[in-house]
Amino acid sequence: MGRIFISCRIFPDEIARLEREGHEVEMYPGDVIPREELLRGVAGADVLICPLSTRVDRDILAASPRLKIIANLGVGVDNIDLDEASARGIMVLNTPGVLTETVADLAVALMLAVARRIAELDKRLRAEGFPGWSFMPPYLGRDVWGSTLGIVGLGRIGAAVARRARCFSMAILYYSRARKPDLEAELGCRYVPLDELLAESDFVVLCVPLVPETRHLIGERELSLMKETAYLVNIARGPVVDEGALVRALREGRIAGAALDVFEREPEVHPGLLELDNVVLTPHIGSATLGTRRRMASLAVDGVLAALRGERPGNLVNPNAWPGKL
Ligand code: NAP
Ligand code: GLV
Repeated sequence: MGRIFISCRIFPDEIARLEREGHEVEMYPGDVIPREELLRGVAGADVLICPLSTRVDRDILAASPRLKIIANLGVGVDNIDLDEASARGIMVLNTPGVLTETVADLAVALMLAVARRIAELDKRLRAEGFPGWSFMPPYLGRDVWGSTLGIVGLGRIGAAVARRARCFSMAILYYSRARKPDLEAELGCRYVPLDELLAESDFVVLCVPLVPETRHLIGERELSLMKETAYLVNIARGPVVDEGALVRALREGRIAGAALDVFEREPEVHPGLLELDNVVLTPHIGSATLGTRRRMASLAVDGVLAALRGERPGNLVNPNAWPGKL
């Protein structure tokens, strides 16, 4: 039977499922585990179930000689040293699919919030009251409907954003590693090189994973290609954007605004972003609904139970680590 360490709070019924199959479970009772606690927890564990705020680097892996499975409570696995895990024969599992629609909902909410100035005007109304309906500025924003959306990374979440954009009569451009003829036919979207997408879009939504090729994919040069009236929305990972360059572009009015769910140095937020009214900030809540978090926990536990039974888990990120049988 396995020893399972969980490095954040999860639903008790999922822990009960693990225990019912005879596994010994220890859960860290907070949300962000200190490194010493993590080192202690993984030292004798066969399985680590962790959120994306748990950084599983070489040192952690070296301190976990029994570890066979890491189940990440999220689809992005940039918090885990995948090469090292694979070299050690450790299977890495994630939670794709079950969070797609929820994250796409947030992307649309962020586009609407920044273009219609919802967060800014809510704050202003509470501080200054509502002086009366006004036809002319200061409350005017920009239309989302009928505008051009540029999706960077037309994967599961990117496509779900595009499906929603059709209901807003948006023209849809996309950039990905590979062209997607089926999605082009289904969604009426058009593939363009990244520079063209940046130059033509009114909203640029980032939906790529964080990998070496996407780190600072959006920097000074890319921001300078965007329209002065355009907005950047990042629901992917913070380091996909050079945050310093973004703050400069926003301060100088070179783009109209930004809506960010993720940050370059989480949980730190660039102080320059906090000062700007044309920025909407959310604390990495893309998948944060009760239903989706339940589905994510359940999928992670399904994968762990399957792997511990010697079955190949469906959501295996590094198939080269599959031993055939544990
Ligand atoms: P996915 O289905 O794998 O889609 C990722 C897309 O990015 C794919 O279309 C892929 O292109 C593209 N891509 C990968 N590397 C690229 C590169 N170097 N240049 C251009 N495009 C590239 O993943 P997903 O489920 O949609 O999730 C995407 C990411 O969203 C996750 O990795 C995670 O970081 C982030 N996320 C954030 C939240 C949140 O709470 N804010 C929640 C969930 C996920 P190809 O199809 O051509 O390979
Ligand atoms: C959340 O950010 C995820 O990758 O699932």
